[in-house]
Formats: sequence, C-alpha cells, structure tokens
Amino acid sequence: MRIPRTIAIDGQSAAGKSTLGALLAAELGYLYFDTGVMYRALALAALRAGIDPDDEAALTALAHRLTIDVTAPTVTDGRQYTVLIDGEDVTWAIRDPDVERIVSRTARFPAVRREMIRQQQAIGRRGRVVMVGRDIGTVVMPDADLKIYLQASLTERARRRLAELRSRNIEMSLEQVAAALAERDALDAHVAQPADDAIILVNDGLTPAEEVAWVLQQFANGDQPL
Ligand code: DC
Repeated sequence: MRIPRTIAIDGQSAAGKSTLGALLAAELGYLYFDTGVMYRALALAALRAGIDPDDEAALTALAHRLTIDVTAPTVTDGRQYTVLIDGEDVTWAIRDPDVERIVSRTARFPAVRREMIRQQQAIGRRGRVVMVGRDIGTVVMPDADLKIYLQASLTERARRRLAELRSRNIEMSLEQVAAALAERDALDAHVAQPADDAIILVNDGLTPAEEVAWVLQQFANGDQPL
C-alpha cells in the first residue's frame, strides 16, 4: 500500500472537508491545513479595519501586510487548531456569521488569491500534509498525490452548519442557513471545481469514520495514480 505524501480535499461549504481532513491527518500523522481559515482571517481583518469587501486594492494590501498563522491548538475548547492574526487568537472570531457573509466576496480577487496561494504552496512543498479548501487539487497543489472532492446535498450541509452554529449558541433557522450556503456556493463556484483526476466522494449519510475508511481503502486498492 502506497501512502500519498500530499492529499488535497476540496468541496463546497459545509461538505465535511474539515472533519474528514482532520481525521485523515491524525490517522496518517500529517499536518492538517484548512486554507479557508486564511480567507476568513483576511475577511475578519477587513471588517475590523473598515475596509470595503469590494475594494480589491485595499484587500490585497491587507493580505500582504497580515501575518496569519495556524498552530497546534493552544486551548482545549473544541478547536482543531489555533488561528492567529498578527499574534492575536481569532480562532472563533473567524467563524462568526459576519465573516461568513463577506468572505466569498473578499476571496474572489485574483491578487488576494495569489498571495494566499503563495503561502499555501510553501506549506504544501514540505509534504506530509492534508490540505483542505476549494482549489487545492486544481491550483494550490495540482500535483497532489491524492485528490478528493467531497459532495453533500444542500439540506445535509445546512443541517451540519446549523448544528455547528447552535453548539456556539448562534441561533439561525435551517432555511436561513441553507440560503446563506446557497449564496456562498454561487460566489465560490468559479474556484470550487473538482480536478479532472479527483475522486468524488458523496458523503450524505456517511459517518466521518466511514469516510476515513473509504479513503484508506482507496490507497489499498492502488486505484490512485501515486
Ligand atoms: O471552507 P471555508 O468555509 O472555511 O471557506 C471560507 C471561504 O473562503 C469560502 O467562502 C471560500 C473561500 N475559500 C477559497 O476561496 N479558497 C480556498 N482554498 C478555501 C476557501
């Protein structure tokens, strides 16, 4: 069985990428890197600085200026990692609905993406990484040894996101959550596409453990062009 050194997991919002990515990384002893946190950190910093989410030049300057770090968890409060902007812990702040509302807009600018991708590729080059996002298999790590594109229905994704929000005492209806996801899907559609050589995993009704077992089975089958 050949184990891939680099694994790309892409898919739409709330498709379960983080859950699968973190479990798989733990199973293999690899770094888990969720690239969405970088776009979220930038959106949060823009909100705080009063920068217009449509101001490409200001956002690009901000992307160059900010130091975004993702480290091992520093507190045991359910987090998978700690996210720092210029040293400040923003792990939960980047999950706020205010950030969700604008992040797809701030992430759409090519100059902003170039800066984020440059940093992500530096991490990818070290190998032994499970990297999660929208364009990992197509742009960030086109040579990834294993590419997975996760899919789940909008209803299933809305249910998952609602449960996550409720666990943080944020009240929204299922309809509101589904509408917000559908809006983000539309905005993210230009980057969230499966690579030609990605394997598609539809995870409606699968438990995370079943998903991990399914991925490990792909290595065992040797189906992947490693
Ligand atoms: O996966 P997420 O919900 O944390 O991602 C937050 C936003 O960042 C999402 O709207 C799309 C964007 N994103 C992106 O454009 N490219 C990535 N590689 C990861 C996220």
